[in-house]
Amino acid sequence: MSATSISRALTPPDIRARKGGTPIASLTAYTTPIARIVDRHCDLILVGDSVGMVLHGLPSTVGVTLDMMIMHGRAVHRGAERALVVVDLPFGSYEESLEQAFRSAARVMAETGCGAVKLEGGDSMAETIRFLTRRGIPVMAHVGLTPQAVNAFGGYKVQGRGASADQILQDAKAVSEAGAFSVVLEKVTEPLARSITEAVAIPTIGIGASPACDGQILVIDDVLGIFTDFRPKFVKRYAELGRDAEAAIAAYAEEVRARSFPGPEHVFGESAKSKRG
Ligand code: KIV
Repeated sequence: MSATSISRALTPPDIRARKGGTPIASLTAYTTPIARIVDRHCDLILVGDSVGMVLHGLPSTVGVTLDMMIMHGRAVHRGAERALVVVDLPFGSYEESLEQAFRSAARVMAETGCGAVKLEGGDSMAETIRFLTRRGIPVMAHVGLTPQAVNAFGGYKVQGRGASADQILQDAKAVSEAGAFSVVLEKVTEPLARSITEAVAIPTIGIGASPACDGQILVIDDVLGIFTDFRPKFVKRYAELGRDAEAAIAAYAEEVRARSFPGPEHVFGESAKSKRG
């Protein structure tokens, strides 16, 4: 089944036009009910491959598949009316060749109904970004800490300290010149994120970067306090739903064991049974 509806939502050119304007509020989402809420408040919803860690219990994003991204992309698209929905291309689905990248991105666009894809990498991915954008696939880039390369980085380390700053600036310029409509800057030093934002023509979306970026993004489960396995410094929790869920589930289990749930208001009498089956 494909979801090829024309989007009524904000488009990649709309997001591109926000360079230097009102900051672009973005969050990840992976399910329809959360997408509906995010859509009412944010400009851009990313179906991030972080889904592998926060929803599927994987140790990193490396094990996430194209089918997983398509399933969550469809769910999010169903819940979004106004925000631009961007779906991550997972590790291994675009690096091999330009043709492989096109096939994966085209599947994601056609089967989810999303408005753009995101891929990780700077200079080394510029040719791929050019190839996709020239063929009608809007691309959001992602430089700095690129979690799909966690094994090469040797951990989730801050990027852009010392000599590597020049390379990251170069990466951001390369993806902008290749036609990306925006670029995520993840876990780079604040001064570097600020200079990149001044240097590139496209909006920068920061995560652990700088308030000077053209927009911000966080992982929804971090914001809501649901994902608590680890908490990077850049995460601000706006709710403690994990703690609330723990208390609710403990109360439920206790009431079941005490036979105080279900109460009389939760069970059906004869007449109700015959009406509602
Ligand atoms: O997968 C993801 O959630 C991301 C954001 C952290 C930018 O790429």
